Amino acid sequence: MAGTFRAWMVRSSGVAVLAMVVAAGFSGARPSAQAPAAKPAPTFTRDVAPIFQSKCEACHRPDNMAPMSLISYEDVRPWARAIAQRVETRQMPPWHIDRTVGIQTFKNDRSLSDEQIDTILRWIAAGAPKGDPKDMPPPKQWPDESKWQLAGKYGAPDLVIKSAPYTMPAAAQDAWWRPVSDTGLTEPRWVRAIEIRPSTVKGRRITHHALARLQQAENMRSELFTNDPNVSGDGLFMEWAVGKNGDEMRPDSGRLMLPGSKIVWEVHYHAIGEAITDSVELGVYFYPKGQEPKHREVLALFNTFTGARTMLDIPPNQVTTTESFVSLKENARIENFQAHMHLRGKGMSMEALYPDGRREMLSQVTDFNFNWHNMYIYTDDAAPLLPKGTLLHLIAWYDNTRGNKSNPDPDQWVGWGDRTIDEMGHAWLNITYFGDDEFKAEVARRNGSRPAALATTPAGPQQTAQR
Ligand code: HEC
Repeated sequence: MAGTFRAWMVRSSGVAVLAMVVAAGFSGARPSAQAPAAKPAPTFTRDVAPIFQSKCEACHRPDNMAPMSLISYEDVRPWARAIAQRVETRQMPPWHIDRTVGIQTFKNDRSLSDEQIDTILRWIAAGAPKGDPKDMPPPKQWPDESKWQLAGKYGAPDLVIKSAPYTMPAAAQDAWWRPVSDTGLTEPRWVRAIEIRPSTVKGRRITHHALARLQQAENMRSELFTNDPNVSGDGLFMEWAVGKNGDEMRPDSGRLMLPGSKIVWEVHYHAIGEAITDSVELGVYFYPKGQEPKHREVLALFNTFTGARTMLDIPPNQVTTTESFVSLKENARIENFQAHMHLRGKGMSMEALYPDGRREMLSQVTDFNFNWHNMYIYTDDAAPLLPKGTLLHLIAWYDNTRGNKSNPDPDQWVGWGDRTIDEMGHAWLNITYFGDDEFKAEVARRNGSRPAALATTPAGPQQTAQR
């Protein structure tokens, strides 16, 4: 086991650790005890517990969705080996955006820093010592999740919509529950925040994630500002996953809900050895009547392949790449990136091809994991501003070989379909559109005092040259 850990360490922390291991002469001795220049071995109470409190306990605590608690030393110790593996490969916490390209600041980033990973791996390599109990930080206080988290800010939700209940047996395959609920709205309302929660504490343990889609009668084509057949508007209203409760709109932006609208749920349940019945609740906070936000956020699905669904064609025993281009007919701000594929899905990227010829990689997921449909929400100052005429270039790739561990059968041809063993390929994007003057103002605001003409995007090469 020790040898395996050393290999992980060498890969993860590069030269410094490699030097340390060499100094220790591969003797099997603890590297940190042998190398005089090395930092002292981390301890659980002093170094690791604070990291787990901030990055793991959201899910890994009693009555939550993760399989085990990671609060006390006794909770954690038996899992040391699994933790090293999941942390080193960045599978845990679930956050699979490529860190080497694209925008890197997100509102909901739950990943570990390189330094935190290094601390955890060095602690495990040193035998996972407990340390001085006096160093243990006070237990983290978690908000009472049976309460609406945004109520403190906005008051009780203006509208609460509940899904039909579902019973998850003690042992069963994962289930996707897709009931439909009426919103009961009789007039249009602008939404400034949304919150989702499982109805009960027990329900939290079986609820992996929940999506709520807003379905309403309107011509989404005109709202999407593109007539591209690769884009459709049956948009995601909100996604709930553990550790995340509320979505607040950016300043002066909102979603529009129309009379007669419906919520289409998709709740991913998993069995935990005990039959549990639960439903999911959506709390909606409206802007006061008469206070319309300036910008409408639109929810859109961008296909990552071109043409009809039958065009998705993934031969057996092969890695297949697909791509699509969508031209934006209006100035836009992209609010988030979320890749959707199934078991063969391996990666997805989104690139902007600007009207002036520059291109910029916005986001890329290279280690897609079907268990985790992470929504990567850009921070206010990083959400890309794309002038009209920009082409969004999406690429998705699929690994239908034996090399893909989650592949159920590499000898099958795979096409588009709802079932997990079929495939899909799209990005869920929330987009806010801007008129020309507003867009110029937004670009200028983003770039501080510099004139808007010099800077269309924060990271553009032209801009750097002119700075
Ligand atoms: C967003 C919720 C969430 C967060 C945050 C999270 N985990 Fe997990 N973790 C899960 C779930 C759910 C599973 C089981 C499903 C899976 O493996 O994807 C899991 C599985 C694991 C496993 C594998 C357990 C096994 O059965 O082998 C390890 C190890 C682990 N997590 C460690 C961590 C550590 C360490 C952190 C913090 C640095 C962390 N996780 C943060 C939800 C989370």
